[in-house]
Amino acid sequence: MTITFITGANKGLGHETARRLIEHGHTVLIGARDPERGAAAAAALGARYVPIDVTDDASVTAAAADVAAHEGVVDVLINNAGVHGPYGDPGTLTGAASLAVFDVNLAGVVRTTTAFLPLLHRSADPVIINVSSGMGSLARTHDPDRPESRVVAPLYTASKAALTMLTTQYAKAFPGIRVNAADPGYTATDLNGRTGPQTVTEGTDAIVALATEGPGAGSGRFVDRTGEIAWS
Ligand SMILES: NC(=O)c1ccc[n+]([C@@H]2O[C@H](COP(=O)([O-])OP(=O)(O)OC[C@H]3O[C@@H](n4cnc5c(N)ncnc54)[C@H](OP(=O)(O)O)[C@@H]3O)[C@@H](O)[C@H]2O)c1
Repeated sequence: MTITFITGANKGLGHETARRLIEHGHTVLIGARDPERGAAAAAALGARYVPIDVTDDASVTAAAADVAAHEGVVDVLINNAGVHGPYGDPGTLTGAASLAVFDVNLAGVVRTTTAFLPLLHRSADPVIINVSSGMGSLARTHDPDRPESRVVAPLYTASKAALTMLTTQYAKAFPGIRVNAADPGYTATDLNGRTGPQTVTEGTDAIVALATEGPGAGSGRFVDRTGEIAWS
């Protein structure tokens, strides 16, 4: 039985990842910050709801304690929760806005990973998947043939670039854990006002592939739905 914990799983890509991994036979724990939305999503999918706000140390610690008490182990941790941050004139961005985006997209992953590491260490084949973005890739945002090169979103892209580096560092730091990053691709969710051309099923292909591959698959990879992509 594979125990999989997903942050931000009440909607969007996290919710679809949960649905698909349940189909694959995983026992999925729905992490979500809002109790009503989280419990409703878990009930709809046949999963267990675990409250977690990734910006709140106490909430993250309590989530790990909850899982320790109930399941006692986590095989797959999917750090999916993310925010875009403010749209609009980049000349009006504030320090507070940048800290808020990085608090979810980077510090949230650090908090959650640190709290869940003891549970992952109890797994025979532990996996961490960080849901990053091609928008955090220097190569993709500078390739005129790529859609990522035509978007200006300073805080989101910077936070995802930081998350990809965090992923490679964690892959080196935790040799006993497969730590990889997924780029879902541009997908219609609330994050982008449902403007993305992909469905959430297409957008979760890379995450599901990383969550279901067997022991021996590599660590420190960046994967989209077509396969491995360059970090830089
Ligand atoms: N959609 C795309 O095109 C795309 C492309 C590349 C990467 N991604 C990444 O995919 C991930 C999922 O995004 P999505 O597109 O599915 O967006 P979404 O539908 O807006 O879902 C985001 C999820 O993150 C949760 N969340 C936000 N802040 C949180 C916090 N402090 N604590 C816990 N949960 C929090 C949200 O919960 P609430 O409902 O409570 O707000 C929601 O469940 C993000 O990391 C995003 O950057 C998306």
